[in-house]
Amino acid sequence: VSQNGTFINGFYEAWPIEYPEEAYGFAKAGQTMVNVADGKILRLYVDDEPFFLPTAHLLSFERALDMRAGTLDREVLWETPSGKRVSIRSRRLVSFEHRHLAAIAYEVTVLNAEAPVVLSSEVLVRQHEQGRENDPRQAPGFEHRVLEPRIQTAANGRLLLAHETSSSALQIACAAEHVLETECNSTFDSEVSEDEASVVYSIDAKPGKTISLVKYLAYHTSQSSPPKEVADRTHRTLDRAVQRGFDALLTSQRRYLDDFWERSDVLVEGGDPRTQQLARFNLFHIFQAAARAEGAGIGARGLTGLAYEGHYFWDAEIYVLPFLIYTSPQVAKNVLRFRHSHLDDARQRAAEMSESGALFPWRTITGKEASAYYAAGTAQYHINADIAFTVRKYVEASGDRAFLEEFGAEILVETARLWADLGFYSDSREGRFCIHGVTGPDEYNTVVNNNAFTNLMARENLRYAAETVRALEADRPAAFAQLVHRTDLAPTEVEEWERAAERMFVPYDEQLGVHLQDELFPEREPWDFENTPPDKYPLLLHFHPLVIYRHRVIKQADIVLAMFLLGREFSDEQKRRNFDYYDPLTTGDSSLSACIQSIMAAEIGYSDVAGEYLSYAALMDLADIGGNVKDGTHIASMGGTWMALVYGVAGMRDYDGRLTFRPRLHGKMRRLKFPLTIRGQTLEVDLRRDRVSYLLRDGDDFTIEHFGERLTLSAGKAETRTLSSD
Ligand code: BGC
Repeated sequence: VSQNGTFINGFYEAWPIEYPEEAYGFAKAGQTMVNVADGKILRLYVDDEPFFLPTAHLLSFERALDMRAGTLDREVLWETPSGKRVSIRSRRLVSFEHRHLAAIAYEVTVLNAEAPVVLSSEVLVRQHEQGRENDPRQAPGFEHRVLEPRIQTAANGRLLLAHETSSSALQIACAAEHVLETECNSTFDSEVSEDEASVVYSIDAKPGKTISLVKYLAYHTSQSSPPKEVADRTHRTLDRAVQRGFDALLTSQRRYLDDFWERSDVLVEGGDPRTQQLARFNLFHIFQAAARAEGAGIGARGLTGLAYEGHYFWDAEIYVLPFLIYTSPQVAKNVLRFRHSHLDDARQRAAEMSESGALFPWRTITGKEASAYYAAGTAQYHINADIAFTVRKYVEASGDRAFLEEFGAEILVETARLWADLGFYSDSREGRFCIHGVTGPDEYNTVVNNNAFTNLMARENLRYAAETVRALEADRPAAFAQLVHRTDLAPTEVEEWERAAERMFVPYDEQLGVHLQDELFPEREPWDFENTPPDKYPLLLHFHPLVIYRHRVIKQADIVLAMFLLGREFSDEQKRRNFDYYDPLTTGDSSLSACIQSIMAAEIGYSDVAGEYLSYAALMDLADIGGNVKDGTHIASMGGTWMALVYGVAGMRDYDGRLTFRPRLHGKMRRLKFPLTIRGQTLEVDLRRDRVSYLLRDGDDFTIEHFGERLTLSAGKAETRTLSSD
């Protein structure tokens, strides 16, 4: 099963969320990514017989995603019902360099006969094909016409359809241009209607003579320009593309990806032979989803499907950005700047939720909260701290203080304000600062008091905000003055944040010797894991939320994630005890879980468990572990795979921007090698069973830590340490 979709990041339709029982402050405007005009369609007829892949008699077939070239290639040998042999080769790409451009090169050769060949190239708007099938993770279908026709043309083989979304009033134009090369006689004809445009080439094919058609596709969208203007942009994109030709596109695509792999490739040898390919497949997908997401976020499924409606969640900051921060910092910065651009919406949302500061939406495209289910949605206030945490990681790893001054500090002030207002000093907890009525990362325990993850991350948010403001005040008076101006910051606020951080309550059970995911966690009724057959997972599809919420059962890493992100807050002994307690209760019903369990298992020395979780995370999409890859790839797990290798296997930690390593290969792995971009320099880590080398490729001396030993690296000179092989 698969879904045919053409998606543009951030291009959505709005719809009113209707609640049978309304309440104040519920999210009102649904936002759903739209399946836009499909320009990929090329239909082939030989002797007027259609080439239809599912039923065609194929003598050979190969389809390959070339992750170095950035193309999808297909080679088919088809025998028609009358015995004619037809070779069909296609290669297509969505250009990285030219943001609005895609292209398909299509070659047909009738090998052993003459035949009339027809090639029909189309641009087609499928108005609404998506349904929900009782799975809340899927996008709801639309009941209205989503794309209203604005302009349609077809002249000299160039097709254009321009539409406007009916509620969100966004403009989109899709245009296609064709270049046919053949020695055989040919004619063409075109047709156009509101949702469909086509050009049909009729060719008298001669045996062995290749017919080549290149189709260039341009997409432009706009929030404010009129349809004609948007349509004109597609024409200019196409004119330029045709002039340069398909080979130039291939070359630029390759160059773009060479750069990417140079900065990002992870080499894995030994162990599960699939891991190498999976690692690359996952990184390639992240790059596709993020590289040109300028002015947009990274959706939970990238641009590969409609699940979660194309929404941006914390998946981007906590799961995907670490990889981008250490390999493509500019891309990471774009994503964070995009968050910053939603700050006003987040301020309004905080006010609506009776808080000061800003509250970022749990899920969104436009910046407005789009979560219609507050328990497992809006209540996840930790999104604020996740963003603040990642601002810090980006600034420390990149050294980009300008970003901190211009954008980051404002996010920190507003998010810290929210925490200071949301929590309170509780008499029943000896005046400790408590945060009630929120949901942590684990969506199977909702609207709880004192979720440890939230409290710890909020504390970090408060501390970093205070630290940043104080540093600006001391060292950068102009930037500080601007910040005060933009946020109306009062001198007493920073002290309030510091006090709240210091008095933060973190639930801990002395008897069990573990941190509590939330205050009441151990009091819930145990889940009957023994009598829950595999077909009852994920639980969310088989049990009412209340049934799940009242039991001691976990969807995804929560405390275990806190132990990774804020590892210094836990002793080694606590980490092991917490992991032992929570791991058996964790279903992994969310794809955001396995990678984190892997990292922490590695840290506490459970190498086999770590290896197993790593495989899950890596295989999530290619082996369809979650059973729903038809709705799109799991971008968080893809980023998580990188983290499970770098933070898990290589044992990297980056507290305060200082890199430390405690590497140890899992199971039968023989080698792991990866580069990291840090403050503009490149560090290469090459790990084998018995040794590890750290090589600084360029720049000034750089200090790291290897099992507690400080190593000062000089450019070009590898430092190698032996590892015990137990
Ligand atoms: C997870 C969330 C995640 C969302 C989007 C949910 O199933 O529980 O943590 O943000 O999916 O990937």
